Amino acid sequence: MTDLRRPRVLVTRRIPEAGLDLVRATCDVDLWEDELPPPRAELLRRVAGVDGLLSLLTDKVDDELLDAAGPQLKVVSNFAVGVDNIDLAACARRGIPVGNTPGVLTAATADIAFALLMSVARRLPEGYDHVRADKWLTWGPLLLLGKDIAGATLGIVGFGRIGQEVAKRGRGFGMRILYHDRARVSAEQEAATGGTMVPLDQLLGESDFVSLHVDLNASTRGLIGAEALGKMKSGAVLINTSRGPVVDQAALYDALKSGHLFGAGLDVTDPEPLRADHPLLTLPNCLIVPHIASATVDTRDAMARKAANNLLAGLRGEPLPDAVAPPAI
Ligand code: DGY
Repeated sequence: MTDLRRPRVLVTRRIPEAGLDLVRATCDVDLWEDELPPPRAELLRRVAGVDGLLSLLTDKVDDELLDAAGPQLKVVSNFAVGVDNIDLAACARRGIPVGNTPGVLTAATADIAFALLMSVARRLPEGYDHVRADKWLTWGPLLLLGKDIAGATLGIVGFGRIGQEVAKRGRGFGMRILYHDRARVSAEQEAATGGTMVPLDQLLGESDFVSLHVDLNASTRGLIGAEALGKMKSGAVLINTSRGPVVDQAALYDALKSGHLFGAGLDVTDPEPLRADHPLLTLPNCLIVPHIASATVDTRDAMARKAANNLLAGLRGEPLPDAVAPPAI
């Protein structure tokens, strides 16, 4: 006999209607409407008995949450490409597929990485502050001198989809492109990006700009600490649009304060949100924005559709269109 019951799903924050409408068409949706994420106790309470979970990167999906959900849970669909908020092994042990939203946010994220790079290089936030503070008295031969982009070397750590898009932008601006990853990309991808694979130490030592595009995992947590920052070229700029914990922020503060680094541009921090009294925000050469790399109307619509389609496929017991590979367990 066919089960005519509509699946129950929990959506942990309001996402664009483009995705919500797809889910609502066939599911009973419990939508957490608040601007802030559900508090943990509320999340554990609401997830109980649902068939599907549409989570955000602000929700920790772990053994505790999966137990609270119950054995009927069929799918976890993350509204993000990064899945470091999800214990993939815990999902795999229960046979629960996990979906994410790759591809659709590649260009938007690369744009923000490059926007940060240019803003820090040319000191745009300082220039804006200067004008707003009514300090603009005349054209100044030595006023707010920045770093050239054309002819500079851009080192990209993590040369997946987003890293390669950043490389293309750098190439368009006349930069030399180095990259580091676990394995060399194809000859076609190297030709399309102009990237040359080098060891990490060489990349750090030769790059005027270093942009991070790695997943957060045990091997990348703290990757850019005091030692790596010390190996960076004096006067270089660090850009991070990956995940905050990839960078040791105390070490970054020292490297910026001492003048070893010219500047940093961060879309991600540790923790998030970063409070306004954080020491990094006292530094004029550190530009921080609130994890907005994928925040364009079209990109978020596309992410919402992907998240919805993963959720619905999982509820039907079908392979997810964008399934995250489960770890070996
Ligand atoms: C992601 O998708 O992982 C970004 O950090 C947010 O869009």
